[in-house]
Amino acid sequence: MKVLLTGGGGLLGQYLNIRLSSEKELLTLYNVNPGNCYKYNSMKIDITDKAKLSLLFINFRPDVVIHTACYSRPEICAGLPRSEVYRLNVEATENIARMCTDYNSRMIYTSTDLVYDGSGKGLLDEDADLNPLTLYAESKLMGEIAVQRNSDNYIILRTALLIGFGLNHSRNNFHHTYESLEQGKEVRMFFDQYRSPLLLENAADIINSLCGMTVKNETLNFGGRDRISRLEIGELICESAGFSKSLLKPVSCKTAEGLPQVPDVSMNTDKLESYGLKQPDIADSIDRAIKNRKI
Ligand SMILES: NC(=O)c1ccc[n+]([C@@H]2O[C@H](COP(=O)([O-])OP(=O)(O)OC[C@H]3O[C@@H](n4cnc5c(N)ncnc54)[C@H](OP(=O)(O)O)[C@@H]3O)[C@@H](O)[C@H]2O)c1
Repeated sequence: MKVLLTGGGGLLGQYLNIRLSSEKELLTLYNVNPGNCYKYNSMKIDITDKAKLSLLFINFRPDVVIHTACYSRPEICAGLPRSEVYRLNVEATENIARMCTDYNSRMIYTSTDLVYDGSGKGLLDEDADLNPLTLYAESKLMGEIAVQRNSDNYIILRTALLIGFGLNHSRNNFHHTYESLEQGKEVRMFFDQYRSPLLLENAADIINSLCGMTVKNETLNFGGRDRISRLEIGELICESAGFSKSLLKPVSCKTAEGLPQVPDVSMNTDKLESYGLKQPDIADSIDRAIKNRKI
């Protein structure tokens, strides 16, 4: 099976490189930061260059395209012109969806839990109300619509907070929190913001399985099975690594400055599990990440 991966140098992309390369004929694409791409069949390409992308489809003819590349941080999107965010997160996604249809490729698109209205009690089903509050979340939702309209064989994964350690240059909130605690620094953590986090390794395993499954034209909540606050994530890190919980300073997300904070986009992942795609519980996930730490 030939798999084309965008965002191969990213946080999730590097875990996908490791997982996919053992079983599939992988071509992984990176933009500026290659991460671990140099170990695999890889290519540097700006995916907003439609002509180059088209050539790539002609030459590689992927069976599956996993599209993770985007401006992935809400705060970065907020500092960019709207048109620039749309050019990558929406227009490039639309182009890829069209090419997938032209070349008979299955498309797996990583969206975000932040498309949901997160003002309620969480554990949201796939048909829950949508209300993206940031340009990032809005552009990812527009990306979903572009995929639905232009691909005839797609899976949209509404991705939860990804936990575990970033590889090479990649960092996420989990990694920063771990490093601060390791250095004995205090960390402020929201006690009233809930997510259903998914371990990066599990995310890569599940996407690897989805490549070969017949499920199509579905939107799936792509998270872990537990609803948990940011503070509780910190507590589990402390328990697993032996750090002092007194370093965790509980704060309310209502007091945060800057972009709007979404209180609860925890997701119901029954649909994902109904396809046999199971996730371990959150304590085991965090323990596994810390025990297998590779920097
Ligand atoms: N991380 C999470 O907790 C989380 C949560 C919900 C959803 N998601 C979704 O999951 C996916 C992966 O997220 P991530 O955290 O792995 O993001 P990431 O680390 O920022 O990876 C995104 C990748 O896109 C690449 N990229 C940016 N502009 C590009 C361009 N013009 N052409 C080609 N590639 C380009 C970046 O490369 P450079 O850095 O070299 O520019 C980067 O490697 C995204 O679709 C995101 O929306 C992630």
